[in-house]
Amino acid sequence: MSTQHPASGARPVFSHDGIAFGCDYNPEQWDRSVWREDVDLMREAGVDLVALNIFGWSHIEPRPGEYDFDGLDEILDLLHAAGIRVNLGTGTASAPPWLTARHPEILPQVEDGTTRFPGGRQAWCPSSAVFRRYALELVEKVAERYGQHPAVELWHVSNELGCHNALCYDDESAEAFRVWLRARYTTIERLNTAWGTSFWSQQYSDFAEILPPRLTLASRNPSQVIDFHRFSSDELLGYYRAELEVLRRHSSVPVTTNFMVTAHIRNLDYWQWAPEMDVIANDHYLDNRLADPTAELSFAADLTRGLAQGGPWVLMEQSTGAVNWQPHNLAKAPGEMTRNSLTHVAKGADAVCFFQWRASLQGSEKFHSALLPHAGTDSDLWREVVDLGHTLDRLDEITGTRVQADVAMLFSWENWWAADGESRPSHGVDYLSQVHAAHASLRRLGHTVDLVRPGADLSAYKLVIVPSLYLVRDAEAEVVSNYVAAGGHVVITFFSGIVDEEDRVRAGGYPGAFRELLGINVEEFAPVLPGQRLTLASGMTATAWSERVRARGAEVLDTFADGPSAGRPAITRNVVASNSSTRGVARYLATSLDPDALDAVLRDAAAEASAHPQGDEREPGLEVIRRATAGHAIAGDTAAASDTPRSYLFLINHSAHDVETPARGLDLVTGDTVDNIARVPAGAVRVIREDPAR
Ligand code: GAL
Repeated sequence: MSTQHPASGARPVFSHDGIAFGCDYNPEQWDRSVWREDVDLMREAGVDLVALNIFGWSHIEPRPGEYDFDGLDEILDLLHAAGIRVNLGTGTASAPPWLTARHPEILPQVEDGTTRFPGGRQAWCPSSAVFRRYALELVEKVAERYGQHPAVELWHVSNELGCHNALCYDDESAEAFRVWLRARYTTIERLNTAWGTSFWSQQYSDFAEILPPRLTLASRNPSQVIDFHRFSSDELLGYYRAELEVLRRHSSVPVTTNFMVTAHIRNLDYWQWAPEMDVIANDHYLDNRLADPTAELSFAADLTRGLAQGGPWVLMEQSTGAVNWQPHNLAKAPGEMTRNSLTHVAKGADAVCFFQWRASLQGSEKFHSALLPHAGTDSDLWREVVDLGHTLDRLDEITGTRVQADVAMLFSWENWWAADGESRPSHGVDYLSQVHAAHASLRRLGHTVDLVRPGADLSAYKLVIVPSLYLVRDAEAEVVSNYVAAGGHVVITFFSGIVDEEDRVRAGGYPGAFRELLGINVEEFAPVLPGQRLTLASGMTATAWSERVRARGAEVLDTFADGPSAGRPAITRNVVASNSSTRGVARYLATSLDPDALDAVLRDAAAEASAHPQGDEREPGLEVIRRATAGHAIAGDTAAASDTPRSYLFLINHSAHDVETPARGLDLVTGDTVDNIARVPAGAVRVIREDPAR
């Protein structure tokens, strides 16, 4: 792969020959005698990108200021000699015991003010100056030593920054929060206005009085909570920059860190982080606590591609089978690892990496799957790993191509923090579930969806979905309105446009920022209790939410037949005509529709917008995605310019039966020619290099 973030100017290009196949490797856990065997087996499987030194600190600096790089030197050289490239960790992810024993003040505090101790990992406060000093000294040594090493292809800063320690409530964080607030608001009066502190006698007379939102008896000031999230995300990004700055002094190799675009971690605003990465990297694990883990994988991959501005990205970690941190750690079915991997590739990943190479024998991850399982090489899992390596080799020509999508959806971490506040209208709805529901519906309908940030240019899309975008800035709402005024089609769902950036309600009727665009006015929310079903006049069903909508120019497509908003509009459609030839359409959904109903509404919206599904909803188990060179681009820029346009059709069969679907070209997975109809066996994936005449 070869990629460079569009905003990165002169920064280095991450370049890997073909699709990378890689893993985390923790050789510190193994006797040196195992290392050679590991490298041989990596070659057998086709592994060509290995992450090292992620948790290396206590090995390479066993005592303060005393460094021992013998082991790391040796393994880097071994990998280099085998032609395997290295994704080198700076080693700072987890502080060694000598550091926390010497400086217990670096330990993090949770919201009730209690300390979290060492013994796990990432036990450090993001604002700790002492931690940062020691960590940067280590980075300096590592960068000095390996900055020019020919095996190093990528720098891996720390590990999953903020996975455990994103929100720290100790006194040092409190002080850093005040500095951040001063920079944002300048005066205490402005902060008081922004936070609405005239409520509950919360007026501050000085920044010195402000604390992080530690646990309270009554609910906390929501603006303070949102700002603390913003601060915490910025604080870790500042830490990333500090490591980056050290690396840059010694090395011109691209730098990244592994994001966690996932359902259960939400503490970093990756829209802010992404422009600072040389390449976007994500860790993704199937979450079997969700109703449809594969739909979430699909969503997370689309969002990661959004962070990469539509360009290629690196899947830095996933699992071959079970993880160890869910209540029920499910093994993957035969073929599932391959299907997961190729879904990520279909959605723009040009690198497929795993945690980890060899399954640990000790420690809390000893029951986490790996490329090389406890059972060894005489295992189905190992055979599938080797097979996957070969398959990825056959897909090398796909690198650099871009995913084709003409539907976009807005997504915002900031809104996630705000919309899921402590005192919201109903705990029966939450932001991510609404986003997932809309994404899953579009996926069922066969659409590939680009996830974009509020405020992003929407002009390339036929249809845009705005699910529950509670917090929205004027300028961001304006982009949506202008898009519709220019002929675009939008679907906005309930609890959108309600507050401004400071969490202040937009008065005059909901959904404040989108009221005019939608031609409606909502007088009151009327959520319902869990278990209560709502029926619409059409017979469609819904749950959780209703509201008292009045149409002010919009056409009413459906009404509530029962529940607290009976007789009121539930689905509306407003035509916005700027002139006789330009007509945009803004639909509104005032409830949480059941999947069939949501499909029906989005199917109509997509058809009216002339958005073209790549898949066929009559074949629900088959996910269809197309990657292509710039000549084929529907949306996005032209990063992958090429003289001869090429396109690749990914056919991912999630079902238990064989499927046939129209396609023409060469199947890169099997090497077979496909004439008109591709047959995709149950659970398999086919990748067709399409004939130009398609
Ligand atoms: C990630 C982490 C890895 C490993 C993995 C297990 O969060 O970066 O080090 O712990 O999870 O699933």
